[in-house]
Amino acid sequence: MTDPYRERRERVLASLGDACLVLPSAPVHIRNNDVEHEYRQDSDFYYLTGFDEPSSVLVLRAEAPRVVLFVRPRDPERETWDGLRAGVDGAKALGADEAFPISELAAELPKLLENSSRLYYRLGHDRGFDDRVLAALDVVRGRAKLGKWWPVQIVEPATLVHEMRSIKSEHELGLLRRAMEISAEAHLAAMAKTRPGCYEYEIEALLRSIFRKHGAERPAYEPIVGSGPNATILHHRKNDRRMNEGEVLLIDAGCEYGYYAADITRTFPVSGRFSPAQRELYEVVLEAQRASIAATCPGATLDDVHAASVRVLTDGMVRLGLLAEPASEAIEKQTYKRYYMHRTSHWLGMDVHDVGPYFDRGKARPLCAGQVLTIEPGLYVRADDGDAPAQFRGIGIRIEDDVLVTADGCEVLSEAVPKTVADIERATAS
Ligand code: GLY
Ligand code: MN
Ligand code: MN
Repeated sequence: MTDPYRERRERVLASLGDACLVLPSAPVHIRNNDVEHEYRQDSDFYYLTGFDEPSSVLVLRAEAPRVVLFVRPRDPERETWDGLRAGVDGAKALGADEAFPISELAAELPKLLENSSRLYYRLGHDRGFDDRVLAALDVVRGRAKLGKWWPVQIVEPATLVHEMRSIKSEHELGLLRRAMEISAEAHLAAMAKTRPGCYEYEIEALLRSIFRKHGAERPAYEPIVGSGPNATILHHRKNDRRMNEGEVLLIDAGCEYGYYAADITRTFPVSGRFSPAQRELYEVVLEAQRASIAATCPGATLDDVHAASVRVLTDGMVRLGLLAEPASEAIEKQTYKRYYMHRTSHWLGMDVHDVGPYFDRGKARPLCAGQVLTIEPGLYVRADDGDAPAQFRGIGIRIEDDVLVTADGCEVLSEAVPKTVADIERATAS
């Protein structure tokens, strides 16, 4: 198999011209005192290297050495505490033409920047690292009188790398599909296990254990397990409530597998049967989701996908007595946002809210085959909403699937998780 990281670097190199690119790894974050947060590599860095160690820097340049890595050197004492390091030799084995210990960055980086006209570097993201890059630029500038030239422009690397990341290769789709399979199994298990009297954290623990059991590195984001009124809190995270008979449970959870994220939401009745009011809201959200999926194809935009959901949801709000004004007016004045306050889609990939442009000079970009997005309409009626019909208060519904744009439409990657009322009631009863 060709090395996907080498192939991606070659594509970047082919677009660089006589520019160079400098990309640091993600920093380590201290959790408290001597304890670090779990380390997760920067997605761009991993996309181009497949290397997951901190304190690393990738440099790509037009002239040899074209691929340079700075890494932590081997260190038997530190490795006893923190685990093995690839070291300089390991970095070369990854495909670097040259590799250096990270301690040599200040001495080597100016040489690597020499004779490039532009520098692709993400200025402003990591001020500490900005200083190191700017110091290196200052050194090269000082050598101008020796006949060297230096990067006179700093360019946002997203213009290259995020464009590439927004179209998924077969290799990436394979990882995404596996993330979907594992996450689907976790959602099904949660449906089967949930009972009145369960705590949200018990279901969270079940989801996490299934992710890990299959080798997923971690959840792609903190799982949201919201029962009863917590289902109306979009980013509910405490997951500490005891569930009652007659409530719905909203689970928004997906794993990260091989650095690729699933992002799936299902809402189902804690006791296995939707109440009439829950079902009425649910059917509206499901119809909205279907309308958005039907609107997803090359050439359409995320605005079109969103508008399809807004139309169905707003019609539903009017029909169910949540809004008094006609749907057209509610859409024009955006009063529907009281019950549907978020967008319908975001890009999905290595990051759960993946990179990639949404707009081109303010205009929504047309979808292309190979892009992956979520479709996640919802309706959220707060428990204290005195204007809403009483039967709907305290109910939150979201249905979220992950969708690949194909040549002639789209494919729902997460369709293994039940979502019709009948299929959900069957899955919760099993
Ligand atoms: N789970 C985060 C989101 O749906 O955007
Ligand atoms: Mn989600
Ligand atoms: Mn999402």
